[in-house]
Amino acid sequence: MKIEKMNQKHLDEVHKIEQECFSHPWSLESLESEMKNENSLFLVAVEDGKVIGYIGMSIVIDEGYIFNVAVCETQRQRGVATALINELVTCAKKNNFSFITLEVRESNIPARSLYSKFGFIKAGERKDYYSDPRENAILMTKFF
Ligand SMILES: CC(C)(COP(=O)(O)OP(=O)(O)OC[C@H]1O[C@@H](n2cnc3c(N)ncnc32)[C@H](O)[C@@H]1OP(=O)(O)O)[C@@H](O)C(=O)NCCC(=O)NCCS
Repeated sequence: MKIEKMNQKHLDEVHKIEQECFSHPWSLESLESEMKNENSLFLVAVEDGKVIGYIGMSIVIDEGYIFNVAVCETQRQRGVATALINELVTCAKKNNFSFITLEVRESNIPARSLYSKFGFIKAGERKDYYSDPRENAILMTKFF
């Protein structure tokens, strides 16, 4: 598996993963425009020429905001998300970030465990932030 910067040729596969994983997936157009935003960093994990996971982060000066991280259902629990976040954290350290932050569904134990492993801590809660199903968001932040 290798981690690379996402580009146009990855868009359809990333969009497919997005649709598989979320009840409100990003449209192809939103993904494309965010990927092209110079203040965003989108990475993909590629194996045998196929995209098996991706992560997207928005950067505002020295702050990172993770939009989404998702891995193909058949490829989970073998370190794909870990490899993607490792790369983001390396980039954040190189660029002297103050912190990276994100929101996650309260019930999303796999994702919350993943972020905890990287030193993200609970920084707050947004009540009923998500719909389908309605659920609180937990804000998690990793400070550098
Ligand atoms: C969350 C997600 C990205 C994890 O991807 P992954 O490639 O399977 O994660 P990794 O194999 O790198 O696992 C890293 C850590 O995550 C946690 N984790 C992953 N899957 C888990 C599970 N099913 N149950 C509990 N913890 C889990 C563990 O802490 C794990 O560390 P460990 O292997 O030392 O136990 C993946 O489950 C996914 O795509 N889920 C659907 C989309 C989603 O919910 N994204 C997050 C939105 S905020």
